[in-house]
Amino acid sequence: MTSTNHVGIIGMSTMGGNFALNFASKGYDTAIYNRSWEKTQHVLDKGADRVHGYKTTAEFVESLESPKKIMLLVKSGYPVDAVIKELLPMLSEEDVIIDCGNSNWHDTVRRQEELAGKVGFVGCGISGGADGALHGPSIMPGGDSETLQKIMPYLEKVAAKDFQGHPCVTPVGSGPSGHFVKMVHNGIEYAMMQGLGEIYDMLRSFGHSALEIQEVFRGLNYGNTQSFLMDITLDILGKKDTKGTGYLVDRIKDVAKAKGTGGWTVEAALKYGVAVPNIAAAVIARTQSSRNMSFLKGLDIMDEQQVPKKPHENLKTPLYRTMELMFLTSYLQGLDLIYQANQEENWGVDMKEVIRIWEGGCIIRSQMLGMLNLFWEEDKNWKEKLFKEIHADMDNLRLIMYKGITPKPVIHSTYNYLQSMFSEHLPTNLIQAQRDHFGAHGYARVDVEGLYTGGWNGDIEEF
Ligand code: 6PG
Repeated sequence: MTSTNHVGIIGMSTMGGNFALNFASKGYDTAIYNRSWEKTQHVLDKGADRVHGYKTTAEFVESLESPKKIMLLVKSGYPVDAVIKELLPMLSEEDVIIDCGNSNWHDTVRRQEELAGKVGFVGCGISGGADGALHGPSIMPGGDSETLQKIMPYLEKVAAKDFQGHPCVTPVGSGPSGHFVKMVHNGIEYAMMQGLGEIYDMLRSFGHSALEIQEVFRGLNYGNTQSFLMDITLDILGKKDTKGTGYLVDRIKDVAKAKGTGGWTVEAALKYGVAVPNIAAAVIARTQSSRNMSFLKGLDIMDEQQVPKKPHENLKTPLYRTMELMFLTSYLQGLDLIYQANQEENWGVDMKEVIRIWEGGCIIRSQMLGMLNLFWEEDKNWKEKLFKEIHADMDNLRLIMYKGITPKPVIHSTYNYLQSMFSEHLPTNLIQAQRDHFGAHGYARVDVEGLYTGGWNGDIEEF
């Protein structure tokens, strides 16, 4: 057998299959393999000349030119380890395995350690869903630079394009940085989706139909908030239920599932000491949507649908500003987490590149990304002007927070996050006092350097 295929893809679910078709359409001979042949056949049936199916991993691996570049689009967790174990005896140090799933970044650290000196291993985030895989996703590969350079030319061809027309892929950094950045991308995704849901829910509670809400959202999808998530929301709100009457969105149960990346983002934020309240609120909101609380078991306490009065005033501007601030704070929290983690881990992540590669293909793409890189520039005047404008806008945010009766955890988090920045004092001096009062944990003073304890029943002492 000749080894002529440029790349190989294992896992022929929709994402894997579409990714293979994308590579083939860019002129790459692409080897595909799946545990069950039916899925491979299904992709072959699409008739792309350059996609070649193999029945065994041995034939698949042998068909690849050297260095062999194998992308895994299999379920994260154990299946990734199982496939690596099977491939390893057939590969050399020159070859590269690229894990394209939503793997936990701690697993990526472990795999990179285990595979060092045996095969190159890249932890690669891919965003854009099935459509992105086919037409161009945002790609976030992380690993050692020599290994990354072997795959970059291929990834550049299949990636989406940023606002300037450049590929939405960059060598993110060393170690697990690719999967870390993708994880945070998903955390931001959770926050933006929940925030949009809260606006939808509030409008629904005023008695607006899905179509009426679509109309409101259409008027908000411009400038900074023009985004993929708004586009699909508009599409969703207009879709009739083909199984029954009315609109499909109204027939879908209000219980949101999650595969874990949002929660992992919150864990990482706690580890690196970064505040990500929008993301945490969104994760918790999904959890609470199942209303699976032990103390509520068997109780029938669901509210009768209350219809608060439609507001008299025109909410367009407050809604737009709320949405903008919700998007902005969700991005900033996630980016701050990436920045801090990178400071500690020295992965070599370029923040502006992260922002750039999210401009196209990915789920959280929006026009706002065009200006976010300014936060990582030394332009103090720009930042001051922006935050003064935001400060002046807090009334709009407050207005939406307190409209109606529906819960709005992410919108409230947006407010709390910003207001905590604007506040000259936080209540945490009292917390430090309480900690010291009951546990002699010490406190810093505003007037003199050093750490102190006491002053509650006896003298103040140096800690
Ligand atoms: C993407 C998405 C994708 C997937 C999420 C869904 O960027 O293409 O983030 O990776 O849709 O993992 O995550 P949940 O099932 O946790 O909502």
